[in-house]
Parts: sequence; C-alpha cells; structure tokens
Amino acid sequence: MRYREELDTPCLVVDIDRLERNIAEMAAYARERGLALRPHIKTHKTAEIARLQRQHGVSGFTCAKLGEAEALADAGVLDDVLLAYQIVGEQKIRRLLALMARAKVTVAVDGVEVAEALSRAVREAGKTLDVLIEVNTGLNRAGVEPGEPVLRLAREVVQMPGLRLRGLMTHEGHVGRARTTEELAQMARRAGTDMVESAELLRRAGISAEVVSVGSTPAAFYTTAVPGITEMRPGTYVFYDNASFRFGRIGPERCALRILATVISRPAADRAVVDAGSKTLTMDPPPPDRSGHGYVVDYPEATVVRLSEEHGVIELPPSARGLRVGDRVEIIPNHVCPTVNLQDELFVVRGEEVIGTWRVVARGKVR
Ligand SMILES: Cc1ncc(COP(=O)(O)O)c(C=O)c1O
Repeated sequence: MRYREELDTPCLVVDIDRLERNIAEMAAYARERGLALRPHIKTHKTAEIARLQRQHGVSGFTCAKLGEAEALADAGVLDDVLLAYQIVGEQKIRRLLALMARAKVTVAVDGVEVAEALSRAVREAGKTLDVLIEVNTGLNRAGVEPGEPVLRLAREVVQMPGLRLRGLMTHEGHVGRARTTEELAQMARRAGTDMVESAELLRRAGISAEVVSVGSTPAAFYTTAVPGITEMRPGTYVFYDNASFRFGRIGPERCALRILATVISRPAADRAVVDAGSKTLTMDPPPPDRSGHGYVVDYPEATVVRLSEEHGVIELPPSARGLRVGDRVEIIPNHVCPTVNLQDELFVVRGEEVIGTWRVVARGKVR
C-alpha cells in the first residue's frame, strides 16, 4: 500500500533515498576538501540517522544539550562529541563528567567563569577536558568577539589546569538573514575569515589552535571555502527544509522529510483545513521572502496561512482543484529541527513503500 494511504496522520515521513543522497553529498564535500565533518544531531535526534552519517564518514558529532549526547550514547552511536554549548551549573558538570567516561567530549566556552568552573571540576575528578572557544561571527548569540577578545580568553584558558584548548568554533547562523546568494556568500566568507584570522592570532602568541570549526547548512559551502577552516558542523542538511531552498541549489525535491497531513474540512472554495497545527508544524517563521507555515508539496499556489494547535488553515485560489476531505497532503516545515523534536517516531519510506520506523531517541532532551 502507498504510504500516503497507509500511515495515520499527522506524521513525519522520511524518504530514505533523499536522506542518503543529502548525507553522502555533504560527506563527499568534506572529504574532497580535507575537512572534518562533525554533524549537529539536533536536526534528527535519531540513532539510525547518526549511524548512516557514520557509514558515510564523520569525525564525530555535535550536540547542544547533554541530554542529546546521553541519548545517543545510550543508543551506542556516540563516541566523540562536541557540546557546542556552555555547560553551566553543578548538575550539568556532574553529567558532563559521567559522559566523559563514555565518549571523547569537547565543550565550547566563551567566558572565564564558565571555563574556571569546568577546570575546577575536571581537576578534582583527575580528568582533562578539551575545549573550543566559541566566537561570535555575527549571530550575536553566545561567543566572544573575533580577534583580540578571543586571544584574551585563550590566554586565560591555557592557564587553567585540566583544560586543553584545541581551537575555535562558531555557528554562522546569521547568514539565514541574507536576501541574496551573493550576500549569503559574503557573510559566510566574513565569518570564515574572522575565524581563521583569530586562530592565526593565537598561533602567533604561541597558543595552538588546530581546530577551526564552523557550522551552518546554508553557509556550508561558503564558510568552508576559506582556507584555514578545518571542520564543518552542518545539521539541517540531512533533511533540508522550507528555509533551505531559497537560493536555488536545493529544491523541494531534495527535502527528505515531509509532514503527512489529512484534509479534515473544506469549508470554503478557497480554504482547506488539515490535521497538522502548531503542535506539528511549529510556529517557526518562514524565510524572509516567503509566507506561511510550510511549503505544501504539489500545491505551490497554496499557503498555510494560519495555525491553531491542531488545525492548519490552507488558503487556495478559488479555482484550485483537489484537496477534498480525506485527501493526504505533504508539507515541508519552515524549520525541520523543532518539528522532529515534537514526534516520537519517523516513518521511513523508499519510493511509495513504508520500510521502517525510527524512534526519535533524543526528542525532548533539552536538559
Ligand atoms: C552550534 C551550532 N552548530 C551547528 C549548527 C548547524 O546549523 P544548521 O542547522 O544550519 O545546519 C547549529 C544550528 O543551530 C548550531 O547551533
């Protein structure tokens, strides 16, 4: 039976051929450029996909939260992880020390207090912890400013017993604000250059910085073109989403994950209602040049104009055909990562056939 009829809705459907192509393409790119590939698992939170990534070649994984790393370690797929997040507080440090017994762990730091607390804890535990300094290359989230501020923090960190400074990391996610490919490329190159120049500054001061790590799917092929970048950490590329096909290289046909929904009401000629609302599609906004709460596959003239928790309201031109009550539609979410985090499982399809179910083992692991 075709998956569109077979599965109950709303649910997340992963096309395994598209998924494998996305994973293989990024792995080949990293290999050709001599870059370490350390994918962020926040997008899929799934052991089977981490395993596929490993088969295609990765140097390790990236997680934000300890809980994500613990879940993947429990599933037996995590041996080397960057926690691209500040680990703060007693409970977290206790869990970090426990994780260090199960995997090789590197942690991001962007300030003296955070680094000092880690140094104290690992010293008392008789361990050594690898750290990367997080650099703010324009996202204006966490991270120290490039250049002298990075060097100042590095000088402090190298004095701290128990910590081994391995280099620098950034998430150049601000490129998502770009309005053209040229602007995106320029923002990404600026971020890459700031990273490489900051690493050079450290080396000139006698501080080693062998890792220069960047991570963003839209910027992936631009930031890493700057000579001196050593590692890339894309996450979204496994599935891509509505924000990914703004600039031409990726089209909806490359999106490996779709929300399968059912039309439950057709109250007006220009309105259809589906059973996927904000509890499935999330309220994440569309990219700057689009509108709506997702991309309705096969109905480019349709817009998901409004969501309540369990209803998605789709507007269509009154002349539009199709979308009768009971019809199934596929929607590509604006931002795939929080969408996955709302589901217990992913239904895996090859062509029209359901070939498996994968549990989202790290879903909800926000601690
Ligand atoms: C620290 C860090 N690295 C890498 C990524 C991956 O970026 P993307 O989702 O664009 O692939 C993210 C995304 O949020 C991130 O926060």
